[in-house]
Amino acid sequence: MRARRDFAWPKLLTADGRGIAFGGDYNPDQWPEDVWDDDIRLMTQAGVNTVALAIFSWDRLQPTEDHWDFGWLDRIIDKLGKAGIAVDLASATATAPLWLYENHPEVLPRDKYGHPVNAGSRQSWSPTSPVFKEYALTLCRKLAERYGANPYVTAWHMGNEYGWNNRDDYSDNALEAFRAWCRRKYGTIDALNQAWGTTFWGQEMTGFGEVLIPRFMGADSMVNPGQKLDFERFGNDMLLDFYKAERDAIAEICPDRPFTTNFMISTDQCCMDYAAWAEEVDFVSNDHYFHEGESHLDELACSDALVDSLALGKPWYVMEHSTSAVQWKPLNTRKCKGETVRDSLAHVAMGADAINFFQWRASAFGAEAFHSAMVPHAGEDTKLFRQVCELGATLRALADAGVQGSGLAASDTAILFSAESEWATRSETLPSMKLSHWHDVRDWYRAFLNAGARADIVPLAYDWSSYKTIVLPTVLILSGADTRRLAGFVQAGGRVVVDYATGLLDARFHTWLGGYPGAGDGLLRSMLGVRGEEFNILGAGAEGEPSEIRLTGTGDSSTMDGAVTRLWQNDVTVAGPHVQVLATYAGEEADEWELDGTAALTRNAYGAGEAYFLGCDLGVSDLTRFVSGWLAAQPQSSRQPQVNSQSQSSRQPQVVGATPDVLHTVRQSDDAIFDFYLTRGRSDVELRGIAGEPIVLFRAERGSDGGAYTVHRNGVLVVKRPNPSL
Ligand code: GAL
Repeated sequence: MRARRDFAWPKLLTADGRGIAFGGDYNPDQWPEDVWDDDIRLMTQAGVNTVALAIFSWDRLQPTEDHWDFGWLDRIIDKLGKAGIAVDLASATATAPLWLYENHPEVLPRDKYGHPVNAGSRQSWSPTSPVFKEYALTLCRKLAERYGANPYVTAWHMGNEYGWNNRDDYSDNALEAFRAWCRRKYGTIDALNQAWGTTFWGQEMTGFGEVLIPRFMGADSMVNPGQKLDFERFGNDMLLDFYKAERDAIAEICPDRPFTTNFMISTDQCCMDYAAWAEEVDFVSNDHYFHEGESHLDELACSDALVDSLALGKPWYVMEHSTSAVQWKPLNTRKCKGETVRDSLAHVAMGADAINFFQWRASAFGAEAFHSAMVPHAGEDTKLFRQVCELGATLRALADAGVQGSGLAASDTAILFSAESEWATRSETLPSMKLSHWHDVRDWYRAFLNAGARADIVPLAYDWSSYKTIVLPTVLILSGADTRRLAGFVQAGGRVVVDYATGLLDARFHTWLGGYPGAGDGLLRSMLGVRGEEFNILGAGAEGEPSEIRLTGTGDSSTMDGAVTRLWQNDVTVAGPHVQVLATYAGEEADEWELDGTAALTRNAYGAGEAYFLGCDLGVSDLTRFVSGWLAAQPQSSRQPQVNSQSQSSRQPQVVGATPDVLHTVRQSDDAIFDFYLTRGRSDVELRGIAGEPIVLFRAERGSDGGAYTVHRNGVLVVKRPNPSL
């Protein structure tokens, strides 16, 4: 078991080093030096206290192989530091200079057709190239020697979004490294043959020299899914090893500043196994870009819930988000009224102690010129810059009130996330290619919010045993060991929800046998008391075939009446003496597929706990019905701090924390509790019976009698009260 690095947080240049970090990526090398003083003036005006510097500056630092130039970086670090702005200094390896590619084209990654990826963008290097590593580590050492003792450099920002452009590398370097990786993992070629099931299509290997990476094999060929999954793991490990090599090269010279790298967790991407990466950073950082529309806040909270778990409840950094529009979508919508400030406060509500943007000043040229920034093209006399200033002041108020260092209170429910299952759902050999583990996690997360009960999102690999309820949405891969953990949890009184595509495969991508979901040699099946024979896959759009099937409640339960499934149903028989069928498939469409009366939702008593099986996919609103009907109604865990719902007026108190209209989170320190309330919908929300002193009223106001608060669309209320456990 790998030891996790100790948590360490970068100090600010304030008297006591504390405060909520606020700033962004700063690219002074894109501007003439006379702009720098103006930058610093505006940063000071906005309350910026930290910047990430030199992320893409390798070519400026080493313009030719034998020539180094740190003068400009010395000057800007000095200016920033003297103005009280701390520097999170990059290892600057995200983009290599063109001379390096000219002299060593072998450092370029290759695509699956074997073509070299061309230079000219960023991350155009192969993490398994020894030549590239040597150049990169030389740069790291030079930076550490020059800035390791600089008091203004308070953290190291390694690389940038590792894997953004080089996640899958099919070069010869990768091939050799993959062979070595397989040898380390499997020891013998027989073990590898077994794991990949190479008797299928006659692909048995006689030695590690025959191991292949999944390069293009012809338009109609399908990749061995076990090989592909290992290649995903390998790609993750190679980038993580590269990060560690860079970190260690700096740490040898400069051991006393915290290290981080910015993860890419939003529900549209999560390309690495960040559960492993989080163990290798001193503090967790994430880049998050918004979803337009109704799911905006929910999606943000969902992504952050995973980030907060990766940070083990310690504060973490938003290393990048946008003040408004990005420039990389087909249509780049700006943020709606209030969202610039609200999004940042939402990240704080979810556990962040650092709010940073890409980027400080909007570029005048290049691929990202039309990406929003803290200082827009139109300059300081703009709505956006005023909002940035307002945000700076608000973060200052939160810091002064003691929010920094407080931890996000846990929920009593965890939705489990597994990077491997996410990779596996992208295989083209599954019954349906429309599966997405991460999107199903998001749908469940939203369903809990709709039911007024926020859930946490926890990596499958971490310890989730203290939760009351565990949900496993499309956790396709479940090892025997994880299945036994799950069974032990339910035996001991836990509640588990297993959905339609969970526990079908083991860690080698072998199907568990004997009936679905067979994880743990049938242990999962017996826990649920169902046995699946076939999958019923919809959505192919075949003429005249039903595209959806309806559910109906059984017995007294009408909760799921009319719920609709459109993608995947399990044809199951009930196989346990204590199984309660809560809903079945019904109607003409169900009949046509021989599913009429088949169990769609079941509950089984198992040990001291209970196990639910949801045999089909459902949309968010139907999942909400399920959560409201069976999960959220249960008593809340004692781990959740009590929200004071004492009415201070004659009206009925609204039980905050249990309403779908607001996202309510709680951050706790030893002596204080901070309640964050953010409106989820378009309407104003009136909150009553809220104890404590308001610290932030953003698009919110307190009634004249002092009792009730009105929080408008995209509004935020933060209230502080003493921690009663003192
Ligand atoms: C991030 C990247 C930044 C910038 C930003 C634009 O992925 O780290 O450098 O490109 O996207 O949204």
